[in-house]
Amino acid sequence: MILLPQAVIFDLDGVLTDTAEYHYLAWRELGAELGIEVDRGLNEQLKGVSRLESLERIIASAAQPPILTEAELAALAARKNTRYTELIASVTPEDILPGIAELLAELRAAGVKLAVGSASRNAGFVLERLELTGAFDYVVDAGKVKHGKPHPETFLNAAEYLKVSASECVGVEDSAAGVEAIQRAGMFAVGIGSPETLGQADVLVPSTGQLNMNELVSAYSRWNGGN
Ligand code: BG6
Ligand code: MG
Repeated sequence: MILLPQAVIFDLDGVLTDTAEYHYLAWRELGAELGIEVDRGLNEQLKGVSRLESLERIIASAAQPPILTEAELAALAARKNTRYTELIASVTPEDILPGIAELLAELRAAGVKLAVGSASRNAGFVLERLELTGAFDYVVDAGKVKHGKPHPETFLNAAEYLKVSASECVGVEDSAAGVEAIQRAGMFAVGIGSPETLGQADVLVPSTGQLNMNELVSAYSRWNGGN
């Protein structure tokens, strides 16, 4: 028997749309101001991680990390967000990543509940820009949880709201922190990216264009003891 998941919880940045690239650009610019290079390798460690924690990781990566006060850290994080906000102001529904709109529609038609589980305080705004707000039953953003990814709270919060058990949920993520959060929540983790970063995922596809509802459901079903 094929088991259908009751809910699918999507990460936002890098899964529904390519705002992960805008986070990268904004951090890269801020890093340059501090004399710290933010390259793509370091950026993989920032994906899924909160704004302040990302800044702390960037600073810690410096050969000689500057000592900054809490107020200075907050000001730098705010500056990064101002730049990020400029970058996302021009997001439109055309920026929904390939395959996502179709997948959401197919899951919805099959009666699967849909949620967003994002670490971003800008999640609501980005969803509005994408005109996707109404596509989801529930949105978890950084304001709704105490513990960020890789803590499982983001995904558990969504499952609780949707009244489904964790093992009936699928999470979709492009970050190592996110895949860990999904699995620690006891859910089936779909990774979007490379095996180097997301090798732990239960199923891995290189990009959203390769996401396919039938394959996703089959893999979830086998994981959960079905056929
Ligand atoms: C996550 C991104 O979705 O949100 C991270 O993957 C980002 O890169 C985090 O740092 C927090 O986002 P924001 O918009 O609140 O700074
Ligand atoms: Mg992401």
